[in-house]
Amino acid sequence: MGQILAFAMQKGGVDRTTTVLNLGVALATGGAKVLLLDIDPQSNLTRGLGIDPDEVEFAIYEVLLNPEKGIEFAIQSLRGEG
Ligand SMILES: Nc1ncnc2c1ncn2[C@@H]1O[C@H](COP(=O)(O)OP(=O)(O)OP(=O)(O)O)[C@@H](O)[C@H]1O
Ligand SMILES: [Mg+2]
Repeated sequence: MGQILAFAMQKGGVDRTTTVLNLGVALATGGAKVLLLDIDPQSNLTRGLGIDPDEVEFAIYEVLLNPEKGIEFAIQSLRGEG
């Protein structure tokens, strides 16, 4: 059974992105299947994972605009399978 973790705080600059990145990497290193969703237009989480946001054709923005395609389409696109 999957678990959804969300880190939210109204105030900015309080290490949300850093926490999500490090926790995600730690869980994945421990063998968990992890999907990190970056819904911040700054795309710092994406950059932190070594992905250039300008190179991503189908990101969460497009998922929200095209809900019928769903998150699977975005994941396939990221993997170069879309
Ligand atoms: N362990 C740490 N030691 C020193 N600086 C850190 C550490 N972790 C994070 N920072 C710095 O703290 C700042 C805020 O971190 P982060 O970007 O994760 O916060 P945020 O809540 O996501 O901010 P934003 O409002 O920009 O989305 C960044 O400049 C980051 O480099
Ligand atoms: Mg952030």
